[in-house]
Amino acid sequence: MINPRDYWEEGFKNLKLQVYDFSKYGPAICLVKFCDNYLGSGSSILDLGCGAGRNAYYLSQRGYKVYGLDIAHSGLSFSKKLFNRLGLDGIFVQGSFDTIPFCNHCFSGIICIAALDHALYNTARLAMSEMRRVLKPNGVILLTFDPEDTDEDILDEAKVLSDGTLEFFKGKQKGLIFHRYKDLEINELVGEENIISFERTEKGTRIVICR
Ligand SMILES: C[S@@+](CC[C@H](N)C(=O)[O-])C[C@H]1O[C@@H](n2cnc3c(N)ncnc32)[C@H](O)[C@@H]1O
Repeated sequence: MINPRDYWEEGFKNLKLQVYDFSKYGPAICLVKFCDNYLGSGSSILDLGCGAGRNAYYLSQRGYKVYGLDIAHSGLSFSKKLFNRLGLDGIFVQGSFDTIPFCNHCFSGIICIAALDHALYNTARLAMSEMRRVLKPNGVILLTFDPEDTDEDILDEAKVLSDGTLEFFKGKQKGLIFHRYKDLEINELVGEENIISFERTEKGTRIVICR
């Protein structure tokens, strides 16, 4: 089994603050709506799988207290530099979302954007349980899942693991793991009774708001 961290470390390690294009790497559109409709001003928000910090940056600009967690040190290091350069406050910690290193009930909101797809199904289940542990009783979670369809021509570059997760062993995505969620699986992962809204963008990304 590959170590999923290696793929992401590589991906972020060459990012340069000087040439970072914020117009290209703006926040996920669904995040803007999530803030408008669900988050109280100034609350503490956890960005799980924060990557290079584009969403954390947006949250911080809107006045939230931002915490970022990612498995990849290179993404966190970039996020920290970005926040320092702009004089923003943010706490960035390395770790995996299936063992979140924060106390019980400490966040009003959690976002996990385009990240759960890149874990084994069982890791995603543990991550859901950890999110609920660190979420305040009236807190809200925003999750996104990539489109279900994948070009069939890449499938000869990936091995299918027993839980249906793809593990890429060659090609551009070598080292990546990707679980193509069916809607039903998302419902099962999150628990239908916890879902506040489930939307699909034109491109097929699933946006789930839940408790
Ligand atoms: C497609 S990127 C999305 C980054 C960011 N959320 C965004 O929207 O720009 C997926 C992110 O999930 C992170 N990731 C993958 N597995 C993880 C895990 N087990 N725990 C924490 N982060 C993880 C990767 O390092 C990467 O930063």
